[in-house]
Amino acid sequence: MLVKVISKIPFAVMTGFAFLLFGITFMYWNFKPDVNFLLTKQGLVDHPIWRPAFYVHIFGGMLAIVLGPLNFIKYIRRKNLNLHRVLGKTYVASILFIAAPTGLYMAFYANGGILSSLGFILMSILWFYTTFMAVNTIRKKQVNEHVKWMVRSYAMTFAAVTLRLWVPFLSIVVEMEHLKVIILTAWISWFFNLIAAELLLKLKLTSLQP
Ligand code: HEM
Repeated sequence: MLVKVISKIPFAVMTGFAFLLFGITFMYWNFKPDVNFLLTKQGLVDHPIWRPAFYVHIFGGMLAIVLGPLNFIKYIRRKNLNLHRVLGKTYVASILFIAAPTGLYMAFYANGGILSSLGFILMSILWFYTTFMAVNTIRKKQVNEHVKWMVRSYAMTFAAVTLRLWVPFLSIVVEMEHLKVIILTAWISWFFNLIAAELLLKLKLTSLQP
């Protein structure tokens, strides 16, 4: 019993961070140009495509970050498979049609120049690809493969959280120069998540199966 409770702590912590980011992101919905990150984009806040793309991106990102964990909850899948399907389809649509394409577009304008742009471009493509594979496998009724790709997809989604944890860690603890932090986090925010996902799949696959 105790072991079971303890084993659920990482998932609970991950879900907590996901909901925290969801909550924090509401700050942008007053549509003001001088909110937090938008202050670093003063050359772009009046851009006719970038600014709408930003709101579309955070809308899709907010859906994906909170819907992801719900799809891993065994209880929901067992009790109400239809609910799992609706939540899953919304998660997938929010990434494939909304957040990943706009993330890819915004990647070309990312703070930190070409090296961070490349990190975000690859991140958007992998986010799209892992999510697309999750859909593709379940269409072929390959449930085990579907679970694996969903874990990878959410590892990518969760990069939005880990990025915001790496930034203060590298800036305050490691005292790294700001530009280096911006560039490095565009890569390590998702790279280590994917490694963690693969380790998780190797170690715990059975407990993730429906
Ligand atoms: C993992 C795939 C994702 C990619 C590739 C991506 C891409 C991007 C890019 C390129 C930017 C602009 C960065 C810049 O101009 O320097 C950005 C900003 C932003 N994204 Fe995403 N994003 C992803 C996931 C998410 C998720 C899941 C959320 C959930 C809320 C989210 C919310 C935001 C917010 C709020 C910003 C503004 C920056 C800030 O407030 O820190 N993104 N994203």
